[in-house]
Amino acid sequence: MASQKKMSKPAYQKMVPDCKRGAVLWPVGQDTAAEAALTARYGREGMSSGVVVDLRQLVRQYAAEQYRDLPWRRTCDPWWVLVSEVMLQQTQVDRVVPRYCAFLQQFPDPAALAAAPLPELLAAWQGLGYNRRALNLQRAAQMVVTRWDGVLPDDPALLCQLPGIGPYTAGAIAAFAFNRPEVFLETNIRAVLLHLLCAGRREVPDTELLVLAGQALDREHPRDWYNALMDYGSDLKRRFPNPSRRSRHHTVQSRFEGSDRQIRGALLRLLLGAEGMAAGALQQQLAVEADRLQPILEAMVAEGFLKRRGSCYLIPST
Ligand code: ADE
Repeated sequence: MASQKKMSKPAYQKMVPDCKRGAVLWPVGQDTAAEAALTARYGREGMSSGVVVDLRQLVRQYAAEQYRDLPWRRTCDPWWVLVSEVMLQQTQVDRVVPRYCAFLQQFPDPAALAAAPLPELLAAWQGLGYNRRALNLQRAAQMVVTRWDGVLPDDPALLCQLPGIGPYTAGAIAAFAFNRPEVFLETNIRAVLLHLLCAGRREVPDTELLVLAGQALDREHPRDWYNALMDYGSDLKRRFPNPSRRSRHHTVQSRFEGSDRQIRGALLRLLLGAEGMAAGALQQQLAVEADRLQPILEAMVAEGFLKRRGSCYLIPST
């Protein structure tokens, strides 16, 4: 498994995930013999100690063959882990990897991000989307500096007090950075539990999946366990029509083309390259109606992305 030490900068820059390099891919559309046997055994015995052993063995076996060498797995610095988890909340792994590396070179600790001018932060966030996460991340960094002297706590209840950090992200930081045996769900974990232990069922609630996740968790090695589980779940989504769709809590991202999200992103890109622009000029550049643009501008001012100065909108530096 990867070293838990923080990597040196040059190695960090060169890193790309060597996901599935040279490994034999697991079959598409059909269970392996071990998976089929596990599902059948679970059907007979429920979550017996034998089923737990088999499940852990299956996940470990998968990880041994297909471990993804992702950059956030080469560190246990809580800030670096937190940044990875926030980026991964709504952005695919492949998109996150290069931006994550560049972002942490620029903002290697909470103090660096807390003090950053907003245009620098938003420029570094370009390509990740869902820009509110960037604002929350900076507010979280400022809280960590003022409240905890720049040191992140290991307790998920405290981590949850940070803006943009919910129970999943708090649990993941505690597990990946501090190796704490916390129980949490995300899409890949749901995929494993739904595929292997909820065959044929729909609308499975998280309350039930959380119990299964807690029973399955390898409490001696939570960090390795969750890395392996997420790799396995991500591969299950390649092999089968996304098992997470059978979760009661499954959500799909809204359409991007023609959405407010697209206009907001384009607005920020325009304003990152300008001192400030009048609403009329923005409207022309973006080719949108005034009554579509105006509420978006107002919302972005209220959220803290933009300031209005006279007739111009700009991204404030302070
Ligand atoms: N998705 C969310 N967190 C992840 C992680 N730490 N590794 C891979 N995928 C993830």
